[in-house]
Amino acid sequence: MVTSSAPGKVFLFGEHAVVYGEPAVPCAIGLRARVTVTRREEGLRVRAGDLSLDGFAVEYDGDTSTPEVDVPENLLDAAMGYINEAVAQARTAASERGIDAGETGFEVVVDSDIPLGAGLGSSAAVVVAAIDAATRELGVELPREELADRAYQVEHAVQDGGASRADTFCATMGGAVRIEGEDCRTLDTPDLPLVVGYDGGAGDTGELVAQVRALRESHGFVADTVSTVGDLVRRGETALAADDRETLGELMNVNHGLLSALGVSARSLDAMVWAAREAGARGAKLTGAGGGGCIVALGDPDELEPALSYAPACEDAFHAELDTGGLRQEEL
Ligand code: PMV
Repeated sequence: MVTSSAPGKVFLFGEHAVVYGEPAVPCAIGLRARVTVTRREEGLRVRAGDLSLDGFAVEYDGDTSTPEVDVPENLLDAAMGYINEAVAQARTAASERGIDAGETGFEVVVDSDIPLGAGLGSSAAVVVAAIDAATRELGVELPREELADRAYQVEHAVQDGGASRADTFCATMGGAVRIEGEDCRTLDTPDLPLVVGYDGGAGDTGELVAQVRALRESHGFVADTVSTVGDLVRRGETALAADDRETLGELMNVNHGLLSALGVSARSLDAMVWAAREAGARGAKLTGAGGGGCIVALGDPDELEPALSYAPACEDAFHAELDTGGLRQEEL
């Protein structure tokens, strides 16, 4: 039995534009998904009581059978798709190293602090931890770069090619990272005071990415908005390196405006962004795909957390501490 865990993340800058090759800077936070994998005779048994799916446990024999549980089909398909693909990647990684794992069964137990589909990288954290735990259970230790790449392949397959490497690389490495196409690097980051506001909802990443693509195809100038986000991210990197919080805040505000222009904000996200700004945040923006879910604000957690908690749109607010470790193995 092996347990691995990986962190969630917020985007300081650059979501959506990263899908078009612009840079983005996600930053890992102290919420984790833990995945325990145990070998069994055959088949795949998945228990994921905490995936915000109202608790479900399913047993099935592989990719062909559909488990019968009372949760929305798209959420279930996505959750099962991630686990199936992660296990397939672990089997391939093992067989490339001469271990015959084709017939090995697994029990996979997922226990996650990260709300699902809320812009905090829940699926990437689950996938990174699942591949690591499954390969270790097969006696293989993957280098982090390979693990991040395999986790990306899973997201790419499940999200129909719309995913960037941002979430999976960040969940593997921890800290703040910079993604531009295939180029993924870790960044030195100051320990920024970040607060997350969560509206209790979720956005469908695949759908939102498709929506931005459609907007970009109908109106040529939308491509300029996307490349403006890229310019903003490059400035953001300089401000991050200098720990220039005033500029970082300003850029987060502009980034939120540009994401709104791309049509991915929501009334609840805008309300939380404004609640944070009115409480003194240097900057605030939605994080992740949008449509609902979370915002991230830069400022004093003692001021922002209570202010956000009282905002009608907000279901939960918390100080998001920087995670610097990324993927790790948990003691049993
Ligand atoms: O909402 P999340 O955490 O899945 O983030 C999605 C970020 C996008 O840029 C919209 C897509 C991606 O894969 O980078």
